[in-house]
Amino acid sequence: MAFSRFGSVLLLCVFIVLSSTVSISSASEEEKEYVLTLDHSNFSEIVSKHDFIVVEFYAPWCGHCQHLAPEYEKAASVLSSHDPKIILAKVDADAEKNKELAEKFELQGFPTIKILRKGGENIQEYKGPREADGIITYLKKQVGPASIEIKTSQHAESLVDDKKISIIGIFPKFSGEEFDNFMVLAEKLRSDYDFGHTTNAELIPRGESSVTKPTLRLLKPFDELFLDFTEFKVDAMENFIEESSTPLVTLFDQSPEYSVFLSKYFESEDAKVMFLVDYSHEEIENFRTIYHEVAGLYKGKGLKFLMGNVPDSQGVFQYFGVQEDLAPVIIAQNTDGLKYVQPNVQLSQIVSWLKEYMEGKLKPFIKSEAIPETNDEPVKVVVAKSLRDMVLDSKKNVLLEIYAPWCGHCKKLAPILDEVAVSFEKDPNVVIAKLDGTQNDIPSDTFDVKGYPTLYFRSASGKYVSYDGNRTKEDIIDFIQKNQDTVFESLKDEL
Ligand SMILES: *[C@@H]1O[C@H](CO)[C@@H](O)[C@H](O)[C@H]1NC(C)=O
Ligand SMILES: *[C@@H]1O[C@H](CO)[C@@H](O)[C@H](O)[C@H]1NC(C)=O
Repeated sequence: MAFSRFGSVLLLCVFIVLSSTVSISSASEEEKEYVLTLDHSNFSEIVSKHDFIVVEFYAPWCGHCQHLAPEYEKAASVLSSHDPKIILAKVDADAEKNKELAEKFELQGFPTIKILRKGGENIQEYKGPREADGIITYLKKQVGPASIEIKTSQHAESLVDDKKISIIGIFPKFSGEEFDNFMVLAEKLRSDYDFGHTTNAELIPRGESSVTKPTLRLLKPFDELFLDFTEFKVDAMENFIEESSTPLVTLFDQSPEYSVFLSKYFESEDAKVMFLVDYSHEEIENFRTIYHEVAGLYKGKGLKFLMGNVPDSQGVFQYFGVQEDLAPVIIAQNTDGLKYVQPNVQLSQIVSWLKEYMEGKLKPFIKSEAIPETNDEPVKVVVAKSLRDMVLDSKKNVLLEIYAPWCGHCKKLAPILDEVAVSFEKDPNVVIAKLDGTQNDIPSDTFDVKGYPTLYFRSASGKYVSYDGNRTKEDIIDFIQKNQDTVFESLKDEL
């Protein structure tokens, strides 16, 4: 059984934004809104007029978007008087009318912020902080040169710090193919990393200071601390940076500067291993050492490692449905989305557990709510643990809604499903049911959940059809009547 990747998208939405500081906006009511509101009718027109415009795609129900809003507005008001002007805009990407825009920008979660340059020709992901001052600093840098010339050691100090990655080109002169390619690279990756260039390697910390040929030096706050590279093809440099900029063990560090590493971790296509332990644990240093060694052992083998302090890792516990008091806990999620959990992990178990995981010897962990004690509402509650009995093997015609508690369309649908369920109450072969998709894992080879609500119908004989019709009582009842099997049909297999 394979499990949906949809979860990892949500995971991202939950985690990255945890780093934003929530500030309560002051009571003074501003009349003027500095953030432009765009929609499908004027998006292209406005964007095409600007050489540089920042667009936030949000959904009204998304809590992180609501936290961001006052910060974003504050940044917009400050940046409106910057020279050159920096325009901040927003689009409600959840609105039906803006659906095409949302699809065009391949949004993976909310909020998503994009930097559009040259009238929208060039699109970059905003990878900066989520509070006003951080947004301002980051965006000011984005309108300046893609790479800063380092002439003094002060320049070098301002570019290099111990929380982020800096990429510095060291050249005998600022011309030639190597230099040009470096500038192309800097323009391409400027929203991800800080770039600088110099003719004086002595100004650059770490590494050889007597550089004689063009050299790209990557400075990073972890592992080897610096790496040099001398092949000045854009693709090769990009690959080198991609490989070198992922820590061996990503930390669940929620400071804004670190968010780039966390998003890389959660966006990675690789399987993920997460170790959550209280940093006050008496054996913490040994845990750290072993875990880093294991990560080193599996380097390049399709696994990405993360370590987090229990109090900082609430989001992970919730996402995996694991109790906090089971820490130290090690969790793996493979590329099919299957989850593996080892609670109360001992120092001596880490190596062998991962070996068993790699050999496919572990049993997947299925997140589930408890089976409810009473279930006598018209719409029945299904959880992962009761999915088999109530749906997959039920021999009944089941309409199953997979919903999320925060989803507005689901709330709208709830009373309609109630009415549908009431209208079938006398028919013992039809069941209307719902499952909270955020709290229960379901097999993704049977249910393809790309959003909420997702409606599936399983006929008594086992045919699965997703329901994409209008969400009205009449249409849903009509659909069930057309697709249901009679009891006789469902028994045929067994006769
Ligand atoms: C774009 O159109 C919407 C809806 O008509 C409007 O509310 C918004 O103010 C317009 N934005 C700009 C920048 O003109
Ligand atoms: C849904 O409703 C709209 C308008 O009420 C109608 O045009 C459309 O054909 C309906 N779609 C289905 C699948 O019934």
